[in-house]
Amino acid sequence: MEIVRREMEKKVYLETYGCQMNVYDSELVLSILGKEGYSQVGKAEDADLILVNTCSIRANAEQRVMGRLGYFKSLKKKDGHIVVGVLGCMAERLKEKLLEHPAVDLVAGPDSYRDLPKLISALSEGGSRINTILSHTETYADISPARMNDGGVSGFISIMRGCNNICSYCIVPYVRGSERSSDAGSVVREARRMFEKGYREVNLLGQNVDSYIWEDNATGSKVDFADLLEMVAGVDPKLRVRFSTSHPKDISDKLIYAMAAHPNICKHIHLPVQSGSDAVLERMNRHYTREKYLERIAKIREVMPGCGITTDVIVGFCGETEEDFQETLSLFREVGYDWAFMFAYSQRPNTKAARHFKDDVPPEEKERRLQAIIDLQSELSLESNRKCIGKTFEVLVEGPSKRSKAELTGRTSQNRVCVFPAEGRKAGDYVDVMVETCTPATLIGKILNLK
Ligand code: SAH
Ligand code: SF4
Ligand code: F3S
Repeated sequence: MEIVRREMEKKVYLETYGCQMNVYDSELVLSILGKEGYSQVGKAEDADLILVNTCSIRANAEQRVMGRLGYFKSLKKKDGHIVVGVLGCMAERLKEKLLEHPAVDLVAGPDSYRDLPKLISALSEGGSRINTILSHTETYADISPARMNDGGVSGFISIMRGCNNICSYCIVPYVRGSERSSDAGSVVREARRMFEKGYREVNLLGQNVDSYIWEDNATGSKVDFADLLEMVAGVDPKLRVRFSTSHPKDISDKLIYAMAAHPNICKHIHLPVQSGSDAVLERMNRHYTREKYLERIAKIREVMPGCGITTDVIVGFCGETEEDFQETLSLFREVGYDWAFMFAYSQRPNTKAARHFKDDVPPEEKERRLQAIIDLQSELSLESNRKCIGKTFEVLVEGPSKRSKAELTGRTSQNRVCVFPAEGRKAGDYVDVMVETCTPATLIGKILNLK
């Protein structure tokens, strides 16, 4: 009996690449497959079903996945019953082409995960192995994600899908489809459910959260992002609320004031600038200027002094001159970012930039510029962290630090990572930490007010 039961159990291994949105989607997929009797395993070698949730944002993200597919092919050679599926943004971009890869049995785009059980069963019945139809309405609002770190402290909630901006370099609108917002009520319910399960932080996710809009059919009233943020903050004062990503062209004063009004809305804004040069911003189709961007930063700092500010930047975009690049460096110095994600431009097929502009900055030059901005940001991060020395911050404990079990790690409201001796505290606790020293990436301190 026992043997038969074990043989019936289906095991899925799921590997996730790309952004937080993909991490969230993987949790949705695990929830959908859980209902079909699949349990999750930690190693591809132990699975009946191997899934890769993929990213197309830069060429190297896709190359890594192709490498993994090569390895899965070797596993399939050893064990013929293994099924391999490609999900996510590469599935959407490459569609049928992926089915030509010898490792790939099925392909499902970001809006077709409800269809996964059908696609899997179709494999033995000779039905379709692919669904990459994009939807105008799918938000998976009724599916509660199977949290990968159940019993965790911090988790994601997707509040919208897709993107209606066409930044000329970006593949996201093509692989994620048009923008749609989730039901505000379902977002708040999910936040409450997470709080009741012990979570102490939710991250609200969208490609451009500032354009979130939900209309209540019953009352006709509209909920914008600032309203939603306040609704989620109202779940419990002990629930921290974070969000990403804001767009400099859309971030409103209303949002900034809503953040300032609630202590549990974290004082951190990720505001991707992409470039400090107006000419480049225009070619990127970002719809703001350097001046407008700096005006938004000034407003944030006026209303919330000490608010953490981080960014994304692309160097070596089409036509970027040395002067353009110097403008990006000077903007970085002017803002004094706390942290930044920095990328060399990678041309993506069929985007506006690929169709209209020449990818004319040589690879060595892109690398040089990338290294120069990484070096500058590392100085700025150190400077920003040094300003915290001697000050005390409320930190939400996330768990043991990487280096030692006797130490804990967590974040300040401004999203700075903090490490300190455990003193018997645990994940999910709030502690006041006095900062004693720092590196560019970490504040190091001790807990105050120990009772
Ligand atoms: N929706 C978010 C982020 C999207 S992708 C936003 O609008 O800011 C995350 C980051 O990847 C972008 O902010 C950008 O800096 C980078 N990126 C996107 N496309 C890229 C490309 N083709 N080459 C290099 N970096 C890219
Ligand atoms: Fe891409 Fe621009 Fe949309 Fe962000 S806002 S996902 S960069 S198109
Ligand atoms: Fe995210 Fe990559 Fe897709 S950044 S939306 S997983 S292309």
